[in-house]
Amino acid sequence: MRIIIINGPNLNMLGIREPEIYGRESYDDLVKYIERSAMEMGVEAECFQSNHEGELVTLIQRALGRADAIVINPAAYTHTSVAILDALKAVGLPAVEVHLSDVNAREEFRRVSYSSLACVAVVAGKGFAGYREAMELLLARGSDSRSSPAR
Ligand code: DQA
Repeated sequence: MRIIIINGPNLNMLGIREPEIYGRESYDDLVKYIERSAMEMGVEAECFQSNHEGELVTLIQRALGRADAIVINPAAYTHTSVAILDALKAVGLPAVEVHLSDVNAREEFRRVSYSSLACVAVVAGKGFAGYREAMELLLARGSDSRSSPAR
């Protein structure tokens, strides 16, 4: 199974940005963690990060035909981007939304998620381990079907 992992704006600043919320480990540490977890699970994972909404849309579109599933942390665009929601719907691949922090326990505006409307699950507040859980969920679902979001 091939999974594309897409990370949105400011996640390249991990380790520097608000360490009390996001921890002291860097984005490179996250990529290493994901690659190690994927190897242990027998999954092929490829990680991308962009600070630009349009690039995130392009990365989602490019996953079509190249991956079986998507793990996405759209970061701040989670709460604003209809374009990312539409891209996820357009490719129809099973996708899981991940957040390092517990978005439901923070500011009110972080409780809104457009992208989750096209995702089969959301994993939040588990730090790096959330990415592993997301890959496990997708692996358990198998690579045979298009997404069928719960809502
Ligand atoms: C985040 C949560 C978002 O609200 C925030 O804008 C981020 C990171 C997380 O991983 O906890 O940039 O997606």
